[in-house]
Amino acid sequence: MAHQWRGVIREYSDRLPVSKSTRVVTLGEGGTPLIEAPALSQLVDGEVWVKFEGMNPTGSFKDRGMTMAITAAVEQGAKAVVCASTGNTSASAAAYATQAGLTCAVLVPDGKIAMGKLSQAIAHGATLLQVDGNFDNCLDVARKLSENYPVFLVNSVNPNRIEGQKTGAFEVVDALGDAPDYHLLPVGNAGNITAYWKGYQEYSQPYTNPHPGAVPAGSEPVELPAVATRTPTMWGFQAAGAAPIVLGHPVTEPDTIATAIRIGNPASWEQAEAARDESGGMIDSVTDEEILAAHRWLSAREGVFVEPASAAGVAGLIKHHALGNVPAGKRWVITVTGHGLKDPQWALRNADGSDVEPQRVPFDVVAVAEALGLA
Ligand code: F0G
Repeated sequence: MAHQWRGVIREYSDRLPVSKSTRVVTLGEGGTPLIEAPALSQLVDGEVWVKFEGMNPTGSFKDRGMTMAITAAVEQGAKAVVCASTGNTSASAAAYATQAGLTCAVLVPDGKIAMGKLSQAIAHGATLLQVDGNFDNCLDVARKLSENYPVFLVNSVNPNRIEGQKTGAFEVVDALGDAPDYHLLPVGNAGNITAYWKGYQEYSQPYTNPHPGAVPAGSEPVELPAVATRTPTMWGFQAAGAAPIVLGHPVTEPDTIATAIRIGNPASWEQAEAARDESGGMIDSVTDEEILAAHRWLSAREGVFVEPASAAGVAGLIKHHALGNVPAGKRWVITVTGHGLKDPQWALRNADGSDVEPQRVPFDVVAVAEALGLA
């Protein structure tokens, strides 16, 4: 059989908390395309690549972390898992829990989750509760639930999630031959920026897997050589209405059309600041208008369809290019985090907010040719 990508745990087992006897729960996640973006490259007079995480099995980067979190939960004897979610985590948790034979409960903010994501969690048989509150309230309840009841938390405060998600950085380096100059991505609960920074750091120095079972019993731990010669500068972007790290204080009523990152008190706040500071980078905000413009740019100019939150990194690049903060001749990687089919309504709106109305024509060649400007 031709080589098939085996999912992030098997591809990077020497750098993850697994052992030879681990039963791997996988849907073949990771191995996502790193796509050169010609229009963005031209704009910034450099090389811009997008890591299209919408190509994961449930349509977002969450699958990288979820394969690891569910695999570890099974290893530790879990029967049930819980998460709080703005949608993508719940879709991913529901799918992986189903494969593992675990029950899955998801807590989502009432009315603020995209239809595609809701349908995924339901299709995979999760028990879905719409909580009268925002994501931060949901996470608070999910944490307490896991502390007091027999259920495992699979949000990114679970270190296994970060371990799985760090493989995104490994794939970028493996594809480009080294780390890029800059890595940009959206920031919500701040797990992903934490994970990418961990991955880039681990790949840029010799690495010995600290997991006790990572090497066969009786043998010496293996030191792996560095793969990258450097780490990138990390730029993270929050939505302006949900930008606690930028403002320096929690936002009690976060508000943005980018519902995936509608978060007012990120769990990995300190780790995100560490990634920013250690890399000499920044965490800034982008407005909903800038997010929607970047969303449109990606679909109409690069051929990449993402959900709005996923375009925050691209919005950040365009914003800072206009501000004169983007040096020429650099290599940029931007993680676009989730698929456009999750939340397709935004593609059906014109820039002025009006609905896109497809033109109606009779089934007649001449009429169609006229409508297409061919006749
Ligand atoms: N992009 C998308 C599409 C997301 O779904 C999320 C987070 C982020 C970016 C931000 O990543 O939280 O690691 O900083 N979604 C979570 C969820 C909160 O519940 O699906 P982060």
